[in-house]
Amino acid sequence: MKSRFLPYGTQYIDTIDRNKILKILKSNLITQGPEIKKFEDKFAKYVGSKYAVACASGTAALHMSCLALGINSKSKILTSAITFVASANCAEYLGANVDFVDVDKKTFCISVAELEKKLKKKKIDLVISVHLSGHSSDMSEIYKLKKKYNFHIIEDSCHALGGKFNNFKVGSCKYSDISTFSFHPVKPITTGEGGMITTNNKKIYEKLLLYRTHGIHKNPSKFENKKLAYDKYNQRNMWYYEMKLLGFNYRITDFQAALGISQLTKLNRFTKKRNQIAKYYNFKFKNIKFLRTPPNSKNVHHTYHLYTILIDFKKLGITKNQLMKYLYKKKIGSQVLYIPVFLQPYYKNKYNYKSSDFPVSMEYYEQALSIPIFHGLKKKEQDNIIKKIIRFLNFN
Ligand SMILES: Cc1ncc(COP(=O)(O)O)c(C=O)c1O
Repeated sequence: MKSRFLPYGTQYIDTIDRNKILKILKSNLITQGPEIKKFEDKFAKYVGSKYAVACASGTAALHMSCLALGINSKSKILTSAITFVASANCAEYLGANVDFVDVDKKTFCISVAELEKKLKKKKIDLVISVHLSGHSSDMSEIYKLKKKYNFHIIEDSCHALGGKFNNFKVGSCKYSDISTFSFHPVKPITTGEGGMITTNNKKIYEKLLLYRTHGIHKNPSKFENKKLAYDKYNQRNMWYYEMKLLGFNYRITDFQAALGISQLTKLNRFTKKRNQIAKYYNFKFKNIKFLRTPPNSKNVHHTYHLYTILIDFKKLGITKNQLMKYLYKKKIGSQVLYIPVFLQPYYKNKYNYKSSDFPVSMEYYEQALSIPIFHGLKKKEQDNIIKKIIRFLNFN
């Protein structure tokens, strides 16, 4: 049998998932039907939050969250230097000042010590912490800083659905105002494109509902223009709605939500399998010189959205690109997640932050390589990946 190409991550969709989507496609309501609220309720129950709002993507979730927290052109925000650009872009959309924090040496999530250094220097309105690769940031320590310096917290949990910190599910918002998720195909569960926001704050929840759909609502008790809203018999005009603020079309479809519900029922199984794959990699890579396996703190339940190894290419005298190309030829996908965001031309040209201020992020960037981890990865395939990596490191 011909071997298949193994990507660094991919979705797992089965016949049950497909049938759930088909059922909605055969119904009358394919966009704003009943599945969305069902998905939100099940999601909130799963993570242990009061409210959940489904939306078009993880990026939309971050953007709306910034809006709901009142971020604007006068705001100052901090996020992790190692993340996908969306964690910073969401505040840029609103004209806010965006700065980055170096990552922690052990977890590669935002460094609490570096965060405090920045908080001491300037007033910050919002910190967006990123649970890189599925390993939660040190949320209880960040929360302590929130109490001391007074800022909002968004957890960018796009990698960490199914994970825990201090035994609280990621998304419970135990230590934050808002938590955001993505359902892009490589993420812990998928809806194609899609996202979710969780919060325990009713005011934030109500704002998010408005921002998701053009700022429009149909709640009679909140209508401002009673003359337009009611007829001469004091009956509410059936067509009437009001636009209260400038929102977006950030909605998810009903068939995506149906897929999301179906995927959510498999999430624990997915997370367990990813942990098994990671454990086997950890075991096989344990004694390989110049190779470090991913962190896993005691108070964290990792989701292993990514399995990222750190290789000291300098000491080995090879380049990351050489290894990546070799693996690619052997039908093994790998990826660098992520290029430090402050190095991206947009951010470089606008802010010109210095690499020397982010030594841990720079070292991480030099060494990090994410290798395949996904639900459908077979043991034989994993053995082959391990063999190929070790062989390349030993003979180059
Ligand atoms: C950490 C992080 N934040 C935000 C996003 C944005 O999510 P989406 O692609 O669903 O817009 C991603 C997705 O790639 C991500 O990895």
